[in-house]
Amino acid sequence: MKILLVVGARPNFMKIAPIVSAIDRWNAAHPDRPVERRLVHTGQHYDAKMFDAFFRDLEIPPPDVDLGVGSGSHTFQTAHVMLRFETVCEAERPDWVLVVGDVNSTMAATLVATKMGVRVCHVEAGLRSGDRTMPEEINRLVTDAVADLLFTTSRDADDNLRTEGVPDHKIAFVGNVMIDTLRRQLDRLPGLAPARLVPAGSRYGVVTLHRPSNVDRHDTLAGLLGALADIAAELPLVFPIHPRTRKMADRFGLSDRFTPLPPAPDGELAPGIHVTDPLGYHDFLNLWKDAALVLTDSGGLQEETTALGIPCLTLRENTERPVTIWEGTNTLVGTDPDAIRREARAILAGGGKAGRVPEYWDGHAADRIVAALAGESG
Ligand code: UD1
Repeated sequence: MKILLVVGARPNFMKIAPIVSAIDRWNAAHPDRPVERRLVHTGQHYDAKMFDAFFRDLEIPPPDVDLGVGSGSHTFQTAHVMLRFETVCEAERPDWVLVVGDVNSTMAATLVATKMGVRVCHVEAGLRSGDRTMPEEINRLVTDAVADLLFTTSRDADDNLRTEGVPDHKIAFVGNVMIDTLRRQLDRLPGLAPARLVPAGSRYGVVTLHRPSNVDRHDTLAGLLGALADIAAELPLVFPIHPRTRKMADRFGLSDRFTPLPPAPDGELAPGIHVTDPLGYHDFLNLWKDAALVLTDSGGLQEETTALGIPCLTLRENTERPVTIWEGTNTLVGTDPDAIRREARAILAGGGKAGRVPEYWDGHAADRIVAALAGESG
């Protein structure tokens, strides 16, 4: 069996890493039924800090194919991935194309493969925010509508797919590959001694923000940064800043809200919003795993904080990952600055939710996926 694994953007890399390892484990255990894997990077994220650092930290082999698509409008990215991926599919003639997550590359590769009659499986299928102004929601809907096999991370995703008319035989609840990576890398951390970003023993929060709906308009970004500045007066915040957010803060004249993170901090971290460049997986994990509070608009971090029981405030009006609210430590707070201040203060005063780890977020999701695929073809 031959499978093309497609990645494009930062949040894809931690989802593909355990699948690559699981294929290698499968091949070692089943030499009679090998799975040939080819890794295709679309090039949607290409900066050293958005790409290389993750491949290195997560021990992902270099891509076999790099489509080199780069940044651009949604149409530009989608169209260029489609054109270039078609050539790869024609040359490789795979049995399966495996896509992960909900970025433009996910949808583009899915459309190409299904139109060529190549079976597609989608890892992290069935998540729905219900918000069609969110580009990822369109990517999720389109991908799940045409893919042949839908691997889900939680039972509510199965329900979403059934509601959309997907037959049961196309749905497989396997758990969360992102948590496979989290567990594997937590085990490795003690031997790695990555850079220390904050003084040992200090109390701090972590921020990430990059959604266009939060950062592309002056008033929204100014309101969010105002709330964060108030929280940062009580709890220093560390903010590894996405290139899009840095660009917008500069354009809107809001960068004076930031102070750079001291290169080798000693003593207490001062109050304030301390920005750094985007971090690699290990440095970022080292940072957020000990945070008193995480404030984010990321999808993955809502799940990761739930897995480790860290309080998380999601600065969005909706989430496609409600299990992190029902079962985990996540609170959907929206983008109203007063609500953000209020919820953050409640958590800092000891009011954080107790959570539990959702079913099958156990570090073995990728093995279930590979067994299902190899079983299908066997
Ligand atoms: C993409 C995903 C989003 C994911 C996010 C994580 C889509 C629709 N969005 O959003 O779901 O949460 O990645 O990071 O696919 N840039 C660089 N260097 C890079 C990549 C981007 O400087 O390596 C800058 C460019 O100015 C670019 C902007 O960031 O225009 C946005 O990048 P893009 O890939 O279009 O979307 P993201 O906002 O990163």
